[in-house]
Amino acid sequence: MEITITSNYDEMSRVSAQIIAQEIQRKHDLVLGLATGDTPIGTYKELVKIHKEEGLDFSKVKSFNLDEYLGLAPLHKNSYNYFMWENLVKHININPENVYIPQGKIKDPEQFCTWYEAQIKKVGGIDLQILGIGADGHIAFNEPGSSFASRTRIKALYKQTIEDNARFFDKMENVPRFAITMGIGTILEAKKILLIANGKKKADVCAKFIEGPVTSQLTATALQLHSYVNIVLDKDAASKLKRTEYYNWVRDNKHLIQKEVGR
Ligand code: PGA
Repeated sequence: MEITITSNYDEMSRVSAQIIAQEIQRKHDLVLGLATGDTPIGTYKELVKIHKEEGLDFSKVKSFNLDEYLGLAPLHKNSYNYFMWENLVKHININPENVYIPQGKIKDPEQFCTWYEAQIKKVGGIDLQILGIGADGHIAFNEPGSSFASRTRIKALYKQTIEDNARFFDKMENVPRFAITMGIGTILEAKKILLIANGKKKADVCAKFIEGPVTSQLTATALQLHSYVNIVLDKDAASKLKRTEYYNWVRDNKHLIQKEVGR
């Protein structure tokens, strides 16, 4: 896991958007896994800026979102379909037919989950998966206890997640209790992963998932089992890490590897 500690939210957003932009420049038909939440809003703003100012081309990109609340139609203002449209899709030149987001209001959600997994396979899998992290350690809506082998499915939301999400809904009763979410198994099959986190409220969970033991009780620890994970944090989210000095040194001295090899 490569860890980059940035000085604030804006820098975290810029650094993460640059990583995504480089991947799109390298592979024009990149399959991009997308996340929702407060964390990636700045990253998406930066991507829109790179698209508008430097012509970053999304015309061949395909995207797959991690999750959606069960029961919310795409036009519901709290749906993740709506979020993606407002924060990214409508501002870039991605073909809407290439934007896959789980549908929350659907007759047969289980059949939908099977179909969604099949679409990911059909395009050759996800090249780069963007992730945020929940205060309970979830990635996508893989709540504590989710199997590391899990696939896209319906998941009951954990108490902490329901409380965290309540700020977007007018009444507690309206906060969804279930979601459709990619599984940990689905996420681990992405070729590369980029996790972003900011703020003091994520400091504990970041220390645990980066430096703690692997456990399904904190599902982000599954990322320790993946071979290519980029983590971009702001300094508040990184404030409880123990090995910060080492992470910074590794990042700043990557060029020395070549020098060592040439010796
Ligand atoms: P947030 O959510 O970006 O709104 O903090 C992250 C998550 O729950 O995955």
